[in-house]
Amino acid sequence: MSKKILLTGGLGYIGSHTAVSLIESGYDVVILDNLSNSRKDVLEKLKKITKVMPKFYFGDARDEGLLIEILKQNVEAVIHFAGYKSVYDSIKSPIEYYDNNLNCLIRLIDAMNKTGCRNLVFSSSATVYGIENISPLIENMNMGTCTNPYGRSKQMTEEILKDITVSNPEFSAIALRYFNPVGAHPSGLIGEIPRGVPNNLMPYISGVASGKYEVLNIYGNDYDTRDGTCIRDFIHVCDLADGHVKAIEYALKNNGFDAINLGSGNGYSVLEIVKAFESTNNIKINKKFSERRAGDIAISYADIKKANQILNWGPRYGIEDICRDTWNFEKMMFQDERV
Ligand SMILES: NC(=O)c1ccc[n+]([C@@H]2O[C@H](COP(=O)([O-])OP(=O)(O)OC[C@H]3O[C@@H](n4cnc5c(N)ncnc54)[C@H](O)[C@@H]3O)[C@@H](O)[C@H]2O)c1
Repeated sequence: MSKKILLTGGLGYIGSHTAVSLIESGYDVVILDNLSNSRKDVLEKLKKITKVMPKFYFGDARDEGLLIEILKQNVEAVIHFAGYKSVYDSIKSPIEYYDNNLNCLIRLIDAMNKTGCRNLVFSSSATVYGIENISPLIENMNMGTCTNPYGRSKQMTEEILKDITVSNPEFSAIALRYFNPVGAHPSGLIGEIPRGVPNNLMPYISGVASGKYEVLNIYGNDYDTRDGTCIRDFIHVCDLADGHVKAIEYALKNNGFDAINLGSGNGYSVLEIVKAFESTNNIKINKKFSERRAGDIAISYADIKKANQILNWGPRYGIEDICRDTWNFEKMMFQDERV
């Protein structure tokens, strides 16, 4: 019988792509989502891609009773995506962020302890490296200073997970530190659907390409980098999704805490990404330079040897695939909205 995996926040951007990878690898996927940043029609899209409709629970990941009810149905492992992810909103509304990002985790671990489910994969972030560490960022570096509540909530979560694995040596917790997830499923059916104006680069570029936004703001062109714009590590969301399948396989066989980077291992500048989008899709992006944003560091990219070695994982998609799939999804979404 296939192993059952619960995805909290599984209808969101990374969760939905991971659902596809898990189903295609033979897992039985169960999704819990409160739809605070996603749409229920993603379920239909998952069925279109995989021919399987995952079981869906509408509810909050802070609802311990509901978590226990789901986990009791022989769930072997949980991938915990549910949480808020905007750095800028977290500065405006820290309590909302700490409440959602920390209380979901605490209630989930409590429910896992009560039902005997001991395998957890968590969505952490490169932001835990803070502002002092120099790229390539390696998992054995100390966590650095985070400039916002979002980043601190990820650091706190990793500390909590370490404590759990000390108190219960049979518990397996893997914190996947994502770098910059971008792109969309090649079918164009699922991708990132930002609520309101996106903070992230790629949805903004494709929004300018489709005419939703007039101009792309590039924050800072005076960084100490090859073209003055920030350098980031962009990873195709389908590669990221495959990394979760590998992490689940690892968690099911091993105990203890591990933090693992999931990135491409390469840094691209913001201008290089804009140019790649323009040349791949033959579209001109209207852009302008603005002031630097507070808290942005010049260069961030991953060392991915640990993921290569212990998960046997590495990226398959390149920057052109990312640009093509992002634009493909944007066009499909545009069609959907006009119907
Ligand atoms: N996308 C990124 O750039 C990025 C980078 C690093 C880390 N992460 C982390 O990865 C995770 C997933 O990110 P994403 O980009 O898929 O975000 P997303 O907002 O698309 O997905 C999160 C999902 O969780 C749901 N959710 C939120 N709070 C919930 C709650 N209390 N109960 C139930 N469901 C809830 C939302 O409705 C949404 O479907 C988040 O924890 C995020 O912090 C994301």
